Parts: sequence; structure tokens; C-alpha cells
Amino acid sequence: MEIKKQHFETIGSTNTWAKQNAAQFDRKALTVITAGEQTAGRGRFTRSWVSPKGCSVYATYVFFLNRLDEGLGNIPQILSFAAYEVLSTYLDAVKIKWPNDLVVQGKKLGGILCELTEVAPAWAVVTGIGINVNVSEEILNAIDQPATSLMAELGKKLSVEEIEAKITDKFNSHLTLFFQEGFKPFHGPFCRALAHQTGDTIKFHDFQTVITGKFEGINPDGSLNMKLTDGTIKRYVSGELVH
Ligand code: BTN
Repeated sequence: MEIKKQHFETIGSTNTWAKQNAAQFDRKALTVITAGEQTAGRGRFTRSWVSPKGCSVYATYVFFLNRLDEGLGNIPQILSFAAYEVLSTYLDAVKIKWPNDLVVQGKKLGGILCELTEVAPAWAVVTGIGINVNVSEEILNAIDQPATSLMAELGKKLSVEEIEAKITDKFNSHLTLFFQEGFKPFHGPFCRALAHQTGDTIKFHDFQTVITGKFEGINPDGSLNMKLTDGTIKRYVSGELVH
């Protein structure tokens, strides 16, 4: 797709702005909204996303679909895989925590918030990514979950713009393949990028309760299999793994 970019020095949230303005975007393009800082950055499950000035990737990608189908849940997985491929070139230890978090040894490096908004007769898919690039230890320590940044791991600053541009290019080309062939070509590489091994104990947060079981792999459609203590296998399409 053609890429159309718009950058803000300061914004509340690139996802919120993109949803509010989606009707103005080109229906055939991939629109990318980036920001230098967010004053009201949002995470999954109504959490906030710490978004200090000039030290991280804050980007929201918008494209349009004429109808919604089950494959939609794979969009954030494709974006996390694109980011994983780019980030791995800087730091080997980057992994994906299902469904779409970027982690380094259990600490969060980046996350994705995928939302939908109707722009009749189409739907805008609004997928935002935040990556901690040059975030200091002091700011990381104030985050309410274990978090890290590329700078904290590598001991040097990196170019936020370069990382953002590489992720945008990769996501754009992966989306083209996904529209043609679905999740199938991504399944193997996505599984190899995961932080979990078969048999690992995992805790699943299904919006209400936390269920403990063993990781049993990812299905070809990107959903998660978990073996419960009674031996039954449960399949999850969305939710979150907790520590
Ligand atoms: C998560 O909870 O893991 C998702 C975090 C998503 C953060 C990004 S930063 C760019 C975009 N704008 C937002 O307000 N959130 C997303």
C-alpha cells in the first residue's frame, strides 16, 4: 500500500486521534500517525501507556477493510512480528509474548493496541505500537509492570525515527502478504519468535479471571492452546498472559 505519514510533536494519543480523524484518511493507503510524545497514551485493558518526549516509538497505522472477519485478530500479531524482526537486529533477546507484546526476559519493551472504528460503509483498523527505545531506568522504574528499553539493554541511544521507519516498511510489506495468504506464512516464524516453550507454565488473563496451565503452542490461525491442570486443552483467541 502507499504509505501516508503524519507526525505530531505532542498529541494525546495517536490511536485516539487516528480514530477521531479516520474519515479523512485515504481508503487505499496505509496512514501512519506518529508522535514525539503522548500526553494520554493508552495501553490494552484501559491501562495508560507511559509516553515520554522524544525517546520512544509512538505510531498508529490505519487501513480500511470493507468487511470484518476472523483474521482481524492477526493484525496486531503481524505488527508485533514486524517489530520483532526489526528490534532483533538491535537486540537478540527480544521475543514476542502472545498475543502481541514485545519482551526482553519477561520485561516489556513494547506493546500494541488494535482498535476498530466504523467509517461507513468501511471499517478503519487502527493499530498502535509503542516501543521503549531511549527510555531511562528512572522512567522505567516508575512503570507499574516490569519494563525495559533498548537503551537500558544496550547501554546506548538509538534513532527512534530509524526504528519507526523500518517497522513501517516491514509492516506494510507483511500486510500485503497477509491479505494474499492469511496468517499461514507467518505461523512458523511467529512461533519461533515466542518467549514461551511447550510445557512452560503460563497464566492466562481472560478479562475477568486468571487461569494457570501449560503452554501447548499456537494454532495456524494465531490462537493459543493451553493445557489445563485436568489435561484438557483450551483455545484462546484473545486475552493476555501474565507473570
Ligand atoms: C499495551 O498495553 O501493550 C499496548 C500499548 C500501545 C501503546 C501505543 S503508543 C502508540 C499508540 N497510541 C496509544 O495511545 N497507544 C498506542
